[in-house]
Amino acid sequence: MNDLTQLLAKNRAWAAEMTSTDPDFFQRLAHQQNPEYLWIGCSDSRVPATQLVGLLPGEMFVHRNVANVVVHTDLNCLSVLHYAVAVLRVRHIIVCGHYGCGGVQAALQNDRVGLIDNWLRHVQDVRNDHATLLAACSTTAERLRLLCALNVLDQVKHVCETTAVQDAWERGQILTVHGLIYDIADGLLSDLGMSISNTPSLHEQYFQALARLGK
Ligand code: CO
Repeated sequence: MNDLTQLLAKNRAWAAEMTSTDPDFFQRLAHQQNPEYLWIGCSDSRVPATQLVGLLPGEMFVHRNVANVVVHTDLNCLSVLHYAVAVLRVRHIIVCGHYGCGGVQAALQNDRVGLIDNWLRHVQDVRNDHATLLAACSTTAERLRLLCALNVLDQVKHVCETTAVQDAWERGQILTVHGLIYDIADGLLSDLGMSISNTPSLHEQYFQALARLGK
């Protein structure tokens, strides 16, 4: 018996259900995708991007990695960004963090796990850049929640600084970059108040969002 028997059966049931409500659904999607959103989120199994915003296949382009980090030299993330912006012409990029992120927690506590420590070094940079804000938290739980949110703000900034986004804005393409955070305890998303549509508004919105988190 194949260990994936159950998954394959669930897949057949899902495909049949989709086709029963919309007989041409898969044939239409096979010809092209036309998503309006790019989602950059954490790989955590409890944060299923498309599902938690109620979107269907074809409606959201997705990139996920541990702790939703956007690194200026990460070819994987940059390629996704470039394709989504220049070819698919998405209108919105969502950077979504989540409370209770294991990657952020490991970065906060200097945990030694292995190879991934090098990746999480980027989250430690976020931690170090906002050391004063984090030191003002009275509990460890509060500090972790704050770092999860701060990490989103910094990654939104990184997205805005990529050539893919800079070039899009320069050619007049309508594109907004947002920062959201998801609570795995209640399934709800919150907007962190950064919605950037051009370079001049980036720094002002970044500092305003930071100030809100610091309250
Ligand atoms: Co996570």
